[in-house]
Amino acid sequence: MLRFDSVIIPTYLDGVRMNDLIAQPFPGYALIDSGDGRKLEDIAGMLVDRASPAPLWRPALKPEQWQRVVGRVERRADGGGNWIWQQRDPGEIELPYRIGNRELRLVLRFTNFGHIGIFPEQEPVWRLLHAAVAARGPCKGLNLFGYTGAASLAMAAAGAEVFHVDSAKGVLSWGKSSADKSDLGTGSVRWVHEDCMAFLDHSRRKGFRYDVICADPPAWGHGKTKDQMWKIDEQLQALADALAGVVSENGVVVLCAHAPGVQRTAVANVLQAAGLKVAWSGDLVQSHRDDERLLPAGVCAVSAPDTQLIMRHLIQPKLSGV
Ligand SMILES: C[S@@+](CC[C@H](N)C(=O)[O-])C[C@H]1O[C@@H](n2cnc3c(N)ncnc32)[C@H](O)[C@@H]1O
Repeated sequence: MLRFDSVIIPTYLDGVRMNDLIAQPFPGYALIDSGDGRKLEDIAGMLVDRASPAPLWRPALKPEQWQRVVGRVERRADGGGNWIWQQRDPGEIELPYRIGNRELRLVLRFTNFGHIGIFPEQEPVWRLLHAAVAARGPCKGLNLFGYTGAASLAMAAAGAEVFHVDSAKGVLSWGKSSADKSDLGTGSVRWVHEDCMAFLDHSRRKGFRYDVICADPPAWGHGKTKDQMWKIDEQLQALADALAGVVSENGVVVLCAHAPGVQRTAVANVLQAAGLKVAWSGDLVQSHRDDERLLPAGVCAVSAPDTQLIMRHLIQPKLSGV
């Protein structure tokens, strides 16, 4: 059983595990199979094979089906990687992505690390943020460790003025190109090149408040200057404290983590220790297109005044025909 405010709900509801936020296939993206440290995905109609630490199990499909890929990432010993394409390298792709009544155009590029510019497992988080903004009307959004900004665009598409913070210049210009192609309007997303902790400290000192906040920190990272190192093991509580210092009254905070060893109870506990009321915490998981297996993809905790907001997202039916 899980406890939401004073209401006790079953751990399973309508066959859905309530401690999972499930990323379903969406038009233009589907997880087809996983196993042996790899993911087989359909990205914009292309079958690709990428490395992933999560699938410790045997793939469900036969090797011949994996061999039909058009692109595969080969990992190098130095930690980098290379795409091997059957035909020509697809270069930059625009993925149409519908959220609410808007169609965004997410720019995808196939990087040497095997990244594509979005983390599809975060898709239910984008929708949750969009819904949180839509429920408020025009408001201020904040996306920390924002990468190329799918979550920022999702908030902006619902009418928020969004501050998108990342310490890597390249991902900011990448995100801006998606915003431009999505016709979001000048100024709906402010692309801030800054260390996240420094940004939060500045916001608190100035008395700035944000209504809907997303923080999706990596295990470790570099800030803007050499001395600004981010380490989740050492700074997650400080991050939660800083979030509590800038969230508006009745605001929403979504805190995710993808680092080995950081469990859902830990992200809930840091929010609670920061004085934020936790409405839900659980695992982020990715659903396969054609079978019931779930791929673990991180953890998440949500502080929100309205528990219905998160409940609606947990009971999303699987889309068919994607
Ligand atoms: C895993 S990505 C986040 C994924 C993103 N939330 C999404 O779903 O698209 C981590 C991002 O954090 C940024 N980063 C790492 N350390 C940082 C710091 N100290 N301040 C600001 N950004 C940082 C990196 O540049 C990177 O873009």
